[in-house]
Amino acid sequence: MRNKLTILCALLNGIMVQDKSNPMTSTAWEQLKEQASRIRNMSLAEAFQADPTRLSKFSFELSGLYIDFSKNLVDDQVFQYLLELVRELGLEREIKAMFQGQKINKTENRAVLHTALRAFEPTVKNEVKELRANMHEWVSALHNGKIKGYNGNLIKNIVNIGIGGSDLGPAMVCEALVHHSVGKIEVHFVSNVDPNHLEHTLRHLDPETTLFFVASKSFGTQETLANANSAKAWLLQELGDEGAVQDHFYGITANIDAAEEFGIRADRCFPMWDWVGGRFSLWSSIGLPIACQIGFEAFQQLLQGAESVDLHFQAAPFDQNIPVVQALISFWYTTFMGAQSEAIIPYDQRLKLLPPYLQQAVMESNGKNVDRDGQPIPYATSPIVWGAPGTNGQHAFFQLLHQGKHLVPCDFIACKNGDTSNIRQHQMLLANYIAQPEALMVGKPMDAVVRELKMAGKSDDEIKALAPYKVFTGNRPSTSILIDRLTPYHLGQLIALYEHKIFTLGVLWNIFSFDQWGVELGKKLAHTTLDEIQKQKLKANHDPSTQALLNKIIGNQ
Ligand code: F6P
Repeated sequence: MRNKLTILCALLNGIMVQDKSNPMTSTAWEQLKEQASRIRNMSLAEAFQADPTRLSKFSFELSGLYIDFSKNLVDDQVFQYLLELVRELGLEREIKAMFQGQKINKTENRAVLHTALRAFEPTVKNEVKELRANMHEWVSALHNGKIKGYNGNLIKNIVNIGIGGSDLGPAMVCEALVHHSVGKIEVHFVSNVDPNHLEHTLRHLDPETTLFFVASKSFGTQETLANANSAKAWLLQELGDEGAVQDHFYGITANIDAAEEFGIRADRCFPMWDWVGGRFSLWSSIGLPIACQIGFEAFQQLLQGAESVDLHFQAAPFDQNIPVVQALISFWYTTFMGAQSEAIIPYDQRLKLLPPYLQQAVMESNGKNVDRDGQPIPYATSPIVWGAPGTNGQHAFFQLLHQGKHLVPCDFIACKNGDTSNIRQHQMLLANYIAQPEALMVGKPMDAVVRELKMAGKSDDEIKALAPYKVFTGNRPSTSILIDRLTPYHLGQLIALYEHKIFTLGVLWNIFSFDQWGVELGKKLAHTTLDEIQKQKLKANHDPSTQALLNKIIGNQ
């Protein structure tokens, strides 16, 4: 009897746990569904008029960052249901599980602890402390000219060879913080297996003064190994001695054995751990190129900025928790309002790599169709992330944002201080950063268009023909993020906000956000097709379309 009771309790427990993670079984789900049709007809301009506290309720400050969510298609009622939902799904428990290092990446049986990489006393892990000390010492030696090339030359250039998370994070940060460069080392990034990428980068580099970082958590990624081998061949050809490889190649990896096999000594490797996901790894040794460019102290400030957001994420009540609010709004648009994409529009050229960086972070994490119970997901998950810097985007895709048929929530990001002496142009940039979300929201109704055309002296017939094209429906949502200045600290904050937004969305969608099985199949097939291209011989098991393409490449057609 006792045994039966235990089994029954365990079963019930299992069912209850399952129920709590499936958003569709929550009480708020149906209410949110009902709210969607009401909100589709909501007027943002009227919402501001009706509620004078709207701005203060939906805008937040976080030491140097101002985030205004008030131009989103959300009101108190929807916001309350979203909060109810995320509480019901146990976000508090899930946040604890991540920060405590529980193995929440279940399909790979791994903890998710990129936050440990930016934790400072008293919680910092010993291996993290040791890594930071090694990075600090090495970067100082590099900047002091103690790290030299094979022939004793000072190092001037570093080429980071890596792809995905071993490229996008450090490349984005190096570009964003270029004005914080200590000016001793120029960092370059090579990721694409397209040989032009490496060749173009090496064209102006001197092998005597160039170091290579082979950045690969697995040290098994096809593109990275191909580029690393080509770089090695280039170095050997230029310097003519196998021994040069030892002095010019460093590994950043969790697979030291494979790095050694490649020819990099273990004491020239900076470690990584399986509890750091590739797309969340810029805080680890993968961030070494950043420290080389801006110095280790500034790299630490980047970590500290991220840590401040980690503390906020763990402590702030959900209705004032910035990454939680970001996630709730994104979830609302994607799952209930039919939005298929989100645009990231930095009004700062230095943040030009933020959209591609976030593409991997967001889409590799939440672009999933099976839930944490192994069941197919019936609702929409990750939006497609895209974007480009303003004002360039205004002359490219903004037509669609203002008058297209898609609902595209946009994040507008700018810095109050632009780190430039050209104040006039920075003011122009900021003026556009302010005007675009305003135009998206207020639009221009037919009566205003008609009035304007009349004033311009157009005839009634001309007005009738032209007016429909000049109407802006408005009510198009956006979030504005204003950063005091693009310092390492504030950039660390910004990135960490998006990271925790992604995590929270994973909880809302009941997704395993930290695996990426979807990248495997194509990689595997590429091994077969490479073999076929190299041997100039097709295997029979391709579909007719693939077969025809292969035949064109290998010259059978
Ligand atoms: O694209 C798949 C992926 O596994 C990413 O998740 C990762 O960031 C990238 O490849 C590079 O992997 P690695 O650092 O092991 O070379």
